[in-house]
Amino acid sequence: MELNKDIDQFDIPLAKRTYLNNPYSTLLKKLLLFSPFLFLIFSAAGLLLIRNVELLPLNNLKFQVERNHDARILGHLPYNETPKEKLVLIEPNIEVHADMRDSLLKMREEAKKDGIYLVFLSGYRSINLQNDIFYSLKSVRNQEAAERARVSAPPGYSEHSTGFAIDIGDATQRETDFETDFENTDAFIWLIKNAAKFHFKLSFNKDNKYIDYEPWHWRYEGSIEALRVFESSNRKL
Ligand code: DAL
Ligand code: ZN
Repeated sequence: MELNKDIDQFDIPLAKRTYLNNPYSTLLKKLLLFSPFLFLIFSAAGLLLIRNVELLPLNNLKFQVERNHDARILGHLPYNETPKEKLVLIEPNIEVHADMRDSLLKMREEAKKDGIYLVFLSGYRSINLQNDIFYSLKSVRNQEAAERARVSAPPGYSEHSTGFAIDIGDATQRETDFETDFENTDAFIWLIKNAAKFHFKLSFNKDNKYIDYEPWHWRYEGSIEALRVFESSNRKL
């Protein structure tokens, strides 16, 4: 008896076990209860973070590869030769894609009404002709390919082979044909103001890094076929 009494002195009375109401243990219990959700939330956040960190350089690389390795050669995109049956003659020596004939002739008519005389210099060119232009002139002029490509597309890479490109001059200033000076003619000023109405667009502007500025070279984008042909070019704007 005496011994039990002594032991009782050291025992913790039941009523004093207050840990159940301890604020820390309540928090702990809540944490334990919510831990599976917290685990899921943190895992998902972690995964997203890792994915972004990993993908960022990959995406940059992909973009760079697309930029550097699209189908261009010396800055020119590839174009198929339009089949003969889609070509129509608009001048004794100039053929164009049938889709653009009406719009092109209408543009010349409207320009004439404004006192502007457009002259067509070159339309459709076969890949064979482009081959001759590119290689013979390159050779005659003793030019390297990259140098020649600034003014002439390699065969298979010219907008002219699609039949949707037209080189235009000013009938009153023929000395500016195929010259940068064409940009100072009334014809060019009129075209800049009005060509879009007829679905024509300047192909090689001053921003092009590889191809020289060609104020005389316009392309037609007024049919689905034409838009499809120039889709890659327009996507790289
Ligand atoms: N002069 C343009 C670039 C061509 O040859 O198609
Ligand atoms: Zn041209």
